[in-house]
Amino acid sequence: MTGAWTLGIESTAHTLSFGLVDSKGTPTPASSSTVRPDEGGIHPRQAADHHKDAAALLFDQLLKQNQLIHSDIGAVAYSQGPGLGPCLRVGAAIARGLSSRLEVPLIGVNHCVAHIEIGRQQCGCQDPILLYVSGGNTQVIAHLDGRYRVLGETLDIGIGNMLDKFARGQGIPFPGGPVIEKLASQWLAENTGASLDGLELPFAVRGMDLAFSGVMTAAQRLLDNGAELGAVCWSLQEHAFAACVEIAERALAHTGKNELLLGGGVACNNRLREMCTLMSEERGATSHAPPRMFCIDNGSMIALLGHIELNHGRTTTYEQSAVDQYLRTDQTPVTWAV
Ligand code: ATP
Ligand code: FE2
Repeated sequence: MTGAWTLGIESTAHTLSFGLVDSKGTPTPASSSTVRPDEGGIHPRQAADHHKDAAALLFDQLLKQNQLIHSDIGAVAYSQGPGLGPCLRVGAAIARGLSSRLEVPLIGVNHCVAHIEIGRQQCGCQDPILLYVSGGNTQVIAHLDGRYRVLGETLDIGIGNMLDKFARGQGIPFPGGPVIEKLASQWLAENTGASLDGLELPFAVRGMDLAFSGVMTAAQRLLDNGAELGAVCWSLQEHAFAACVEIAERALAHTGKNELLLGGGVACNNRLREMCTLMSEERGATSHAPPRMFCIDNGSMIALLGHIELNHGRTTTYEQSAVDQYLRTDQTPVTWAV
């Protein structure tokens, strides 16, 4: 008899993470390590080397913390895309190796769809509009005709990358998003009732799409003109989040759906969560956000989607197991009930 647990391996970008779900699809906390470059942005090959070096220890740690042994694992799932090629290839190689050694099925899954499914499971949503806000991705997604369709997305950089890049310009190391959140809320606490006068930034909405690089440059210009860092962090969050909330609201209106679900690392942000709740309440909808450990990249969500797809009869052969850097959310058929 093979084991009851599905292992999930996440390696799309900065984070290598191993996670598990049990035979009912219930996840346990993942075992993760994130590469933090000393300076500059992420270098894909450096991140891939980090993943290679960290893998054995993280996997052992995961088994230990769940008191499991190799034979408890009944399937191996991994992120097949989208992401950085060298990082994805490390995850896929580990997955192939484990699947072959443990003699259990292999299943390559879509990273973006995994964010959606862990959110639906954790929040008990039925058929939400997903606002997926991470480092590399910013998308508004809805389920329609057997696929998760992208209704709107960033035309340039992801919102998280924008926040990280702006922070890096101020000497704040990766990940900059949480630091910007802290600086913004500290500044607001000291300046209650502050207005955006003099702190205006360009509008990031382009129809149903978004563009963030102009917002980032304009925020930098505010600093160059003498504005306080905390004030600019606050304004940057207000403008960038309002743009995301606006296209999410339009997606709710167009589709007639009444649940909003947040996913991706930037969904850890309290101000974004608050803005989504306010907007949803105003239109008689509900807003949901999973626990933070399941918003950021994690192996548990990969294990969950692997578990769901295996239950619907899909496995990945070695011939089909190559990674796809540009895998789109709507390329994955949704064969399970939504
Ligand atoms: P993906 O492959 O889906 O693009 P990712 O590699 O960007 O994922 P995530 O863990 O989903 O990884 O997201 C990381 C991003 O989330 C970083 O840009 C980080 O700054 C941002 N982030 C994390 N916490 C917060 C926060 N509290 N406020 C704003 N941004 C945050
Ligand atoms: Fe992600």
